[in-house]
Amino acid sequence: MKSLRVAIIGATGLVGRTILQIMEERSFPIDELIAVASERSVGKQIPFQSSTVQIVGLDDALASKPDIALFSAGGDTTLKWAPKFAAVGTTVVDNSSAWRMHKDYKLIVPEVNGDAISKDDLIIANPNCSTIQLVMVLKPLHDQYQISRGVVSTYQSVTGTGQAAVAQMDDERAGRTPAQQVYPHQIDKNCLPHCDTFQENGYTREEMKVHRETKKIMRDDSISLSCTAVRVPVVGGHGESVFLEFEKDFEMADVRSMLSDFPGVVLQDDPESFHYPMPITAHGKDDVFVGRLRRDLSNPRGLHLWIVSDNLRKGAATNTIQIAEYLNNQGRWG
Ligand code: A2P
Repeated sequence: MKSLRVAIIGATGLVGRTILQIMEERSFPIDELIAVASERSVGKQIPFQSSTVQIVGLDDALASKPDIALFSAGGDTTLKWAPKFAAVGTTVVDNSSAWRMHKDYKLIVPEVNGDAISKDDLIIANPNCSTIQLVMVLKPLHDQYQISRGVVSTYQSVTGTGQAAVAQMDDERAGRTPAQQVYPHQIDKNCLPHCDTFQENGYTREEMKVHRETKKIMRDDSISLSCTAVRVPVVGGHGESVFLEFEKDFEMADVRSMLSDFPGVVLQDDPESFHYPMPITAHGKDDVFVGRLRRDLSNPRGLHLWIVSDNLRKGAATNTIQIAEYLNNQGRWG
């Protein structure tokens, strides 16, 4: 792979820091690292590899025309700045929801639809964390049995809301008044049936993201999933209880082998020895873990699954870096 000039927009945030860490772990070929955060962080040093890098502002990063800019700084920042980077020829991979459902931009999970990327795509969207781990499991099953409908209930880590949310939980856990109340209720010792804002149809934005993004990534509008997204006082990753109904009959042994064979998916399904996916064991890993496989009791073409993945890694940073690696392997930078 070619060595790249890489800008990380939001380098001080939870996802940005995870991107830096994973780049080190995977020996991502970096020629120059341009670390960007908000004005209040400009001039600060952040650790990278065995040294430190100084935070710069977005103007300076744009002026240096990096090969690729990995954005994790919220929707407003990307709406304003991603087109400017694309205009100077920089490829943008964006973690916010700003571009995901736009018809002109691709929404990519490399193992599922990496082949959809063309050389003209300068802004590429990284899907929602709950959607990424879901489609990794849905893809081989849909290809074989055709999903007709599905019901998903998420158990989402506070890390998905950002560092202020983790601080709220930590403060509550330590008996302190939270410096910032990110959620409308206490999150420690609680769970909130509420991720992101409520829509007119009664679903939250997060729930509708799972519904819409799944169709787009799987390139099949007929897949219809309803979701209930729940925030839980957990840091290691998101859990998802998933019920799927298929058009075709399936054998449980085939489902197991298909999931085991899919790249990036690990089957953990041995309930007798208490072996099943959990946020605490998925934490820090790049894979998507699936277990608790059961045929539905009312519909023989129905399957229940439990999926867990580290939402900051495969749900955000790892997927972003995999998109960059995919583009580099395709020869985007010569
Ligand atoms: P900063 O640390 O200076 O606020 P998280 O979602 O974990 O809170 O992280 C958000 C990231 O986005 C942080 O790195 C934050 O930088 C960065 N950020 C927020 N607003 C801007 C902005 N207007 N320009 C550049 N970076 C921003």
